[in-house]
Amino acid sequence: MIEYKNGIFLLRSENISLLLRVSPQGLLEQLHFGAPVDIEDAQAFALQPGIGWGSMVLLEEGKTESCPDVVGLAWSGSGRGDYRESPLELSGVSTDLRYQSHRILDAMPPAASGLPLAAGEGQILEITLAQPGLQLQLYFRILGDVLLRRAVVSNTGDGTVRLGKIMSMMMDLPGSYEMTTFDGSWIAEMRKHTVPVLDSRVVNESVTGFSSHRHNPGFLLSMPGAGEDHGRVYGFNLIYSGNHYAAAQRSFQGLTRVMQGISPAEFSRELQPGESFETPEAVMTFSDRGFGGVSEQMHHFVNHHIIPAYWQGRMRPVLYNDWEGCMFDFNQHRLLGLAKKARELGCELFVLDDGWFGNRNSDTAGLGDYTVNKKKLPGGLRGLSDRIHALGMEFGLWFEPESVNMDSDLYRAHPDWALTDQFQPLLSRHQLLLDLTKPQVRDYIVENVSAILDSAGISYVKWDMNRHSIALGAKAHDYILGLYEVLRRIFDPRPQILLESCASGGNRFDLGMLCFSPQIWCSDDTDPVERVTIQENLSYLYPQSTFGAHVSAAPHAQTLRSTPLTTRGNVSFFGVLGYELDLNHLLPVEEKEIKTQTALYKRWRKAFQFGTFRRLENGWQVSDGRVTVAGIFHGQRSAAPGYEYLRVKALEPGKRYTLHSREQTLRVGQFGSLVKHVAPVELNPNGIVLRTADRFVTLPDGVQTCTASGNALMAGIPLLPAFRGTGYDKNQRTQLDFGSNLYIIEEETKHE
Ligand code: DGJ
Repeated sequence: MIEYKNGIFLLRSENISLLLRVSPQGLLEQLHFGAPVDIEDAQAFALQPGIGWGSMVLLEEGKTESCPDVVGLAWSGSGRGDYRESPLELSGVSTDLRYQSHRILDAMPPAASGLPLAAGEGQILEITLAQPGLQLQLYFRILGDVLLRRAVVSNTGDGTVRLGKIMSMMMDLPGSYEMTTFDGSWIAEMRKHTVPVLDSRVVNESVTGFSSHRHNPGFLLSMPGAGEDHGRVYGFNLIYSGNHYAAAQRSFQGLTRVMQGISPAEFSRELQPGESFETPEAVMTFSDRGFGGVSEQMHHFVNHHIIPAYWQGRMRPVLYNDWEGCMFDFNQHRLLGLAKKARELGCELFVLDDGWFGNRNSDTAGLGDYTVNKKKLPGGLRGLSDRIHALGMEFGLWFEPESVNMDSDLYRAHPDWALTDQFQPLLSRHQLLLDLTKPQVRDYIVENVSAILDSAGISYVKWDMNRHSIALGAKAHDYILGLYEVLRRIFDPRPQILLESCASGGNRFDLGMLCFSPQIWCSDDTDPVERVTIQENLSYLYPQSTFGAHVSAAPHAQTLRSTPLTTRGNVSFFGVLGYELDLNHLLPVEEKEIKTQTALYKRWRKAFQFGTFRRLENGWQVSDGRVTVAGIFHGQRSAAPGYEYLRVKALEPGKRYTLHSREQTLRVGQFGSLVKHVAPVELNPNGIVLRTADRFVTLPDGVQTCTASGNALMAGIPLLPAFRGTGYDKNQRTQLDFGSNLYIIEEETKHE
């Protein structure tokens, strides 16, 4: 809903509102962004600078409230009295944009550049600010409980305008905040860091050419003391996959200026008379229900307004991916053996990863070529996919279309298609990026990928990208626009293909990519201990339906840590489940465990993929109205652990529920010489008998069942005692290091 009265604008949804006012001098003031308020509250919110502070520059003599430095603004200029950070920089020129006009539109004008915008109906507020020779359109709208903003700047003069920086949004929020960012690296994505925002600027920025695992574009601002379920928290994100920038800084007067947009590092754009530049759309929300409230609103927004329409709420298949099992070493026979086994274990989609084309037998060659390797796949992709389909599985394929190896037919034919600068090309993973700013490069990718998709019954694509860019400035932005064009041309006519994007794992986990790919490969790190961190921190801003989450072999390729297979499953359930290991090396007990996992996941798939996700003190829960499934995850066990509780959230207080823990098993081999406590005879822990038994025999772990009211389950119920020394007891949870438990909570059904 958008209201306008006497220079005051109100945008409001159930849980948020934005109140703006045009000042007598034409500044666009932000009176409030947060809980829903009324347009009549404008006067109450207006700041009163009184006699002001020293050194103020006034737009109107004698009026302290005309000083742009001390009022809350929704946009500001530079060099004209506001000495806080400006969202717009023109080389060598001050900016002083004042209100010119506004319109309330029924539909968002399409982004002429091809930048993806959130999808959804509703009114849009367009406010035009102007100064001689320059016009700025600011767009505001609310979808769900999320505010969206973007800016379009136009050269209305007759000279060249040199743009050095333009943000998607800027706002001043009263008070002091802490800023939480999600930073990391390859196999260590999404590490959460929180710092106070004081008088020095705190910046969250990526300059690798992509949104990057170094600094995810999403961030949070919270009032000190805010927690998971209480306190005031703001969440921010950007619908963009390239270099991004966000900054927060508190002013002396106690207003915190926040802005987000394309990184200004090396960015420059020349606008000739009549030309415009548009920013990506920025996304922000507010909750007084703590971090959990922000996450819930962001998840709903992503699931309903970002994910491609065809895949909104549509169940995702359990997949098997051959990469960690085979790497480059496969042929049709090996793949079909794996597919058959994967099918038996409950997988529904077989994904052939890297190595199927050109001379790609390692990562040093072949990228850029699309000819199928007939030595590995004599019947071509069609031959393989027909056989996969005959097994009752769907078929998916890996591509890395944005890159080229120098040792490839493509590079030999078109060395000028690689993205380079004036220096010697710099390789990363032996590859260069293709210059997606060139139309002929985009055509090459679109034609080749499309032809393959249409040739072989492919229902899933993994779109990989494995290096940082060296493109700087405007070219970095044009690359991203080129990428969006390519994705649109390939996948718009084929909406039923499930696209999973990947960039060495989570090096491009952002809302821009999610506009095309409903899910993203979170990380090449599939160790569940690491994944708890990665998935939990992604969950602050992204819903679990977007997490590609696979069970892999242990010890893990990335950490050398051994973890229980139950935990690998339990963690991956809270995402889009897949398996990525050599299935021929599984023991019979492991095969049985995986069958149990896929059956359990499919039974509660709707809740796992699309249920409301909540972080608990020791794990996570998902609820879809029919069921709540809670997982709790442990680190290293300590001796003699005390009581442990399960406290779930958002049940109906007075209703009665049944709680049933997932029936988990224990490998006998893990007890070593302690097996003497359960076996009737003493066995050599390294002997053949125990080693054989370990392949086939498991012990049941404690199963907990109870009925309880919603209030009791939310107050917290004690769990079965954990292992506290030597004895096995089938009524305890014989938790190992990195153990986990899963609890299924359903409304009690009354039997007459
Ligand atoms: C990097 C990805 O993150 C992996 O999952 C895998 O697809 C490899 N590339 C293949 O080269």
